[in-house]
Amino acid sequence: MGEQVQAIISVRAPRSSMVFSEAMVTNVIDGISRLTSVDFHQYKRNFVQRQIRRQVVKHCLNVVEEYEKLLLSGKWTAEALINGMTVNVTQFFRDPPLFELLMEHIFPLLWNRHQSQRGHEFRIWIMGCSTGEEAYSVGMALHESVRSGFSADKVRIFATDLDEIVVHHARRGEYELADLNHLGPDLIQKYFLAGEKYRVIPELRRQITFGQHDLLRDPFIRHLDMIFCRNILIFLEREAQERICEMMYDSLNSGGVMVLGRAESLTKKYCNKGFVSLCRQNRVFQKVNAHGAGEDGVSKRSIG
Ligand SMILES: C[S@@+](CC[C@H](N)C(=O)[O-])C[C@H]1O[C@@H](n2cnc3c(N)ncnc32)[C@H](O)[C@@H]1O
Repeated sequence: MGEQVQAIISVRAPRSSMVFSEAMVTNVIDGISRLTSVDFHQYKRNFVQRQIRRQVVKHCLNVVEEYEKLLLSGKWTAEALINGMTVNVTQFFRDPPLFELLMEHIFPLLWNRHQSQRGHEFRIWIMGCSTGEEAYSVGMALHESVRSGFSADKVRIFATDLDEIVVHHARRGEYELADLNHLGPDLIQKYFLAGEKYRVIPELRRQITFGQHDLLRDPFIRHLDMIFCRNILIFLEREAQERICEMMYDSLNSGGVMVLGRAESLTKKYCNKGFVSLCRQNRVFQKVNAHGAGEDGVSKRSIG
């Protein structure tokens, strides 16, 4: 047994330090991009290289050329290839200080504004939603923070991801108990039905529309009050980041709020174009109008 483990380790070790020539990586990215219609050239080179290396190890191959051969043989579906190239790490209430800020300040603020605009649907888009934890967390947090006058009928949450496999999981809304360990017992009891797995209650599930969407290619949803674009830009080259920021700006209503991931920031160009920081630490930004303030003027001060 000990010998077997040693044998595995010694075979695996050189693979993880595998050297990739630029041409090799370009060939594989060309192949994957063609087969999936996703332009992986717009992702950071180091990231793509890491993902290819992971696939080579996962499929017990010796060299990148073997991966390329398999790729071209049509063995894998586009969905499986995309799934192999993406990082889907997520969790419920990821970055708790952000959710505290949302519940104490941002949601009540935006909801009050929404209440004063009769007939207007409160629209949120969770981009790169992975297996759904972020979308359901936003749904729960909104419900918990806006107690007076809350009506689920007036809320529309869109949650999308490039990776069809994770979207399918998100749509099912079923999780293991271990996935819920960032939720207090009250929330679990209120928003999940216990069974073999824990299933999101229909009222919360109905509020969210899940779909497949490529931020680099597909048209953006418009007239939004909030956008969550967390832990996606970090994988992309600067130009792609800038294009997405510009599209997010166009998609938000004036005074709408955008949330990025902890390690992400807006490029200077888009700070200048019309986002102000509501909370630097939690990467929360507000779209300002031509006079430099959101409709409610909150952008003049920083929260949290
Ligand atoms: C690290 S996860 C982040 C999940 C969640 N937003 C969070 O912060 O917990 C990144 C997600 O972005 C998705 N993604 C990557 N490229 C994308 C693209 N071009 N369009 C839409 N989603 C993309 C991946 O499939 C993955 O599920």
